[in-house]
Amino acid sequence: MGVGLGVLLASNVSAATTATARGLTIEQGHFTFDGKPFRIISGEMHYPRIPREYWRARLKMAKAMGLNTITTYVFWNAHEAEPGHYDFSGQNDVAEFIREAQQEGLYVILRPGPYVCSEWEFGGLPAWLLKDKDTQVRSTDPKFMQPAQRWLQRLGQELAPLQYSRGGNIIAVQVENEYGSFGHDDAYLEQIRQDLIDSGFNTSLFYTSDSAEQPGSLPDLLKVINFGVGHAHEKFAQLHTWQPGGPYMAGEYWVGWFDHWGAPHHVIGAEKVATELAWILQQGYSVNFYMFHGGTSFGWMNGANWDDDSYQPDVNSYDYDSPLDESGRPTPKYNALRNVIMKATGVTPPPVPATPATQAIRGIKLDESVSLWDELPTPTASHELQTMEALGQAYGDILYRKQVTADFAGELRIDGLHDYAQVYVDGKRVGILDRRLKQDRLTLKLAKGDTLDLLVQNDGRINFGQQMITERKGILGGVTLQGQPLMDWQIYSLPFNDSDSLHYARVTCQHAPCFYRGTFDAPVSGSAAADTFLDTAGLGKGFVWLNGHPLGRTWRIGPQRTLYVPGAWLKPHGNQLVVLDLLVEGRPVLNTLKHPVLGTTTVPAP
Ligand code: GLA
Repeated sequence: MGVGLGVLLASNVSAATTATARGLTIEQGHFTFDGKPFRIISGEMHYPRIPREYWRARLKMAKAMGLNTITTYVFWNAHEAEPGHYDFSGQNDVAEFIREAQQEGLYVILRPGPYVCSEWEFGGLPAWLLKDKDTQVRSTDPKFMQPAQRWLQRLGQELAPLQYSRGGNIIAVQVENEYGSFGHDDAYLEQIRQDLIDSGFNTSLFYTSDSAEQPGSLPDLLKVINFGVGHAHEKFAQLHTWQPGGPYMAGEYWVGWFDHWGAPHHVIGAEKVATELAWILQQGYSVNFYMFHGGTSFGWMNGANWDDDSYQPDVNSYDYDSPLDESGRPTPKYNALRNVIMKATGVTPPPVPATPATQAIRGIKLDESVSLWDELPTPTASHELQTMEALGQAYGDILYRKQVTADFAGELRIDGLHDYAQVYVDGKRVGILDRRLKQDRLTLKLAKGDTLDLLVQNDGRINFGQQMITERKGILGGVTLQGQPLMDWQIYSLPFNDSDSLHYARVTCQHAPCFYRGTFDAPVSGSAAADTFLDTAGLGKGFVWLNGHPLGRTWRIGPQRTLYVPGAWLKPHGNQLVVLDLLVEGRPVLNTLKHPVLGTTTVPAP
């Protein structure tokens, strides 16, 4: 016997409130539920990545594929954007998401982090943790631990009552996330486990989830493993060595993959997944499809990787080539996996619900505009450069301005550019530097009295690995001219929180960056407008809002070329589209398409 019931009760149930085998437990190396053998067939989907109006439809799709469980992370930075101000309303009402899953007959596995990875901005951690530049995230540093504990306590009030023991459907809770690929401090992991127990999650099965090579678990906790298609045999064999008595579960079975800006789109064939899944289920193993439905990292919430010594920001689409596509439509993979599950379990799931048609809208004229240069807020004067976080800013752009005091010709160098800088001399752009491409210098000419502007865009914080610790936005080091430091800056914080109340006029914008605004109608057939996909091909680099919803980033380097526009966020008349574009001048006219365009060149998922 590996992880036995006795061990689990001792480690997972702080006050040993229940001594009976209620809910999900482990007996003789196997999962049992209320004392009966149980196999977890779960799909991952994330409430902020799905318009709330569609939660129910997606859950029905999960049930109809034959899943008995859904798994979700909880995204701390979505709920606590400002320290101490917690938001569980609307799109953030995770308790409601879980209750709806219960109404659809699905159990829930909860992954409350507080670190979650997930190609999500800073792995779900709030950017304000970085204001103090000594904070060590994912460690016992009190500057991290205290806010994390407060957050978990608050989350416990929301979700602990939804555990199975208390009449709800939460059956298991993950401790941290892939800590094994980050650090080795058991005291930290132990503290997070204790915080979860203290927050009221004291009657659910606890576990850790890691790559098969780097388990970051505590000795008495159940381990599950994360891996991609094509690796099941070898990875489960590895898990057998870590956890000889079982049980065995793929905590994340990556049935697709995510994309980075400037790189090809990932796909993986349905047949390959179906064949391997059949083997996994034949072994009696449990599984969680990551992702069952990826959805969209709306707004500024797409994260980034640091790999091969380079910065790789993620696109907003989290389609993931998963069984349900970005807009919730079943793909051939959905049908293939449904058949495999049906065969393995002998249970016929409910029929697959029909999905409504999509629509295309042509000729959205963005005929109002205003230049960013006409909308600058009051700056902060600072001898040294400051990061966004130091100024209390999480997302958007930051502008560093300076009047030069002498003529100059030579190299301008930016040390610690995060992430994308446009360099202007007296309002004229003289160059672009991109952290992805390791660009940090250019040659320029300045005359005494010229205004030097460095406009820096945050392309998403790194969400995986040690680089997270030092990840801040703006300029982290200094700026030099031919080796001489430049000091005394005017710094403009540009979080773009309110792109609506700028001074738009019916003019052609001639000085990028520009904000553009236009209205359009979206014919309603039936009860709601149909989903559509905004074609961003004519845009440069920037950001889009629809009726106040932040849709996401645009970047002409692709691979993503459409932004998902949920029909539920449209109205028949007077929809308002606002676009910020760093590069494009003029009066853009945009179209929407019936289908997403996520990439023209594809590569197999790893
Ligand atoms: C890991 C993480 C997930 C996600 C996947 C890749 O397994 O735990 O959050 O980042 O990688 O999509």
